[in-house]
Amino acid sequence: MTQGVRGTRDFYPEDMRLRNWLFERFHAAARSHGFEEYDAPVLESEELYTRKAGEDIVGQLYNFEDKGGRKVALRPEMTPSLARMVMTRAGALALPIKWYSIPQCWRYERTQRGRGREHYQWNVDIWGMEGVEADAELLSVLVHFFNSVGLGSDDLVIRISSRKVLEEVLGSLGIEGETFAQTCVTVDKMNKLPAHVIEAQLGDLGLSSDAISTIRSVLAITDLASLESALASNSEAVVELQSLFALCDSYGISDWVSFDASVVRGLAYYTGPVFEAHDRAGILRAICGGGRYDKLIGSLGGKDLPATGFGFGDMVIMELLADKGLIPELSSGVGDVVFGMGAELRGAAMQVAGKLRASGRSTDLVLEDKRIKWVFKHAERSGAARLVMVMPEEWSKGNVKVKDLATGEETEISFDSLG
Ligand code: HAM
Repeated sequence: MTQGVRGTRDFYPEDMRLRNWLFERFHAAARSHGFEEYDAPVLESEELYTRKAGEDIVGQLYNFEDKGGRKVALRPEMTPSLARMVMTRAGALALPIKWYSIPQCWRYERTQRGRGREHYQWNVDIWGMEGVEADAELLSVLVHFFNSVGLGSDDLVIRISSRKVLEEVLGSLGIEGETFAQTCVTVDKMNKLPAHVIEAQLGDLGLSSDAISTIRSVLAITDLASLESALASNSEAVVELQSLFALCDSYGISDWVSFDASVVRGLAYYTGPVFEAHDRAGILRAICGGGRYDKLIGSLGGKDLPATGFGFGDMVIMELLADKGLIPELSSGVGDVVFGMGAELRGAAMQVAGKLRASGRSTDLVLEDKRIKWVFKHAERSGAARLVMVMPEEWSKGNVKVKDLATGEETEISFDSLG
């Protein structure tokens, strides 16, 4: 009972400092590209998520009946809520929509390094643009973020492909629509499950063993020239991917991206370019993932609107930053510690703290009777910049004693000039 629920985290102040540091960089990268923040409830109708493509995420739902008998679920991802919000205001929103959010998401997953049962997921999405310009802009947001936390293109890679690659391969074999989406979900697990399990699942979807070996050979392609020779001469997938990589060149982010046909993504709704970032060493799970999903609103009963976006969890990135020695030392943010010597100067210390607070300084007032030794230790531990001491002799002249905690230097300052 005194333990938190398995797979969930407590954030003590030192954890919270780091979380805020990370989130500030998420905010900054999105805002630097003109995205606006939105939010939605963590609780949604279960039916928003119950797709039939066999995705892991549906089996991992935290769902229950509320007291009114409604079937509800904690959101496992933000994209369906975003689609619902866009759908609700369809027609009234100016396009393109460029929105971002940092929701907490819940999935009943097997917990492991970088995966929990709750995580915060930075979501950045663009609605109302069909072209790969939107996908390239998202990649630019990602690279901006990676740079801002000190990661370079030698630390990680953003692998890119398109659902259209498999669509073209399988379309010629008559596999399309819902079966195609289910096939992608299964193909995404190829590296995680034994070959015979994947083959059995694909067999159940009606794929012949020839089709399966065609898929395997296409997924092994890691350069666009080979893809071009593997697909039909008028391949839309190839043209689109070539334009996307050309745009990455213009953005100056070519070092960060590479084509890899094995990127398929495990969610059914993707329809075009898809991407995932991985650490170059290949030790950790995906850092983030996303892609184009032009038909999601249609599947929810609305009128389709092109969309593309990504989700970026707060767990794997912290693992990578730790591995690279890039976790910053963060202070508590307290500027001044104020201490009044003895009960008689308690009121004066409150006045001093009040003045500092009104001038915008973060001020921690020592509220109890404490020895000066304790106060020095406390001020040091809190990471404050200054210790402001209200002492009888100085106060009688309208002054306070200020100790710079970095240099140890002590000065006398008048109450009036404090700030
Ligand atoms: P996803 O690949 O399921 O995509 O999740 C995106 C990212 O969220 C992952 O790459 C990972 O960083 C993080 N993540 C997911 N599950 C967990 C977990 N159990 N523990 C820790 N981190 C996790 C989506 O959710 C899509 N809705 C993303 C998207 C937005 N596509 C378009 N727009």
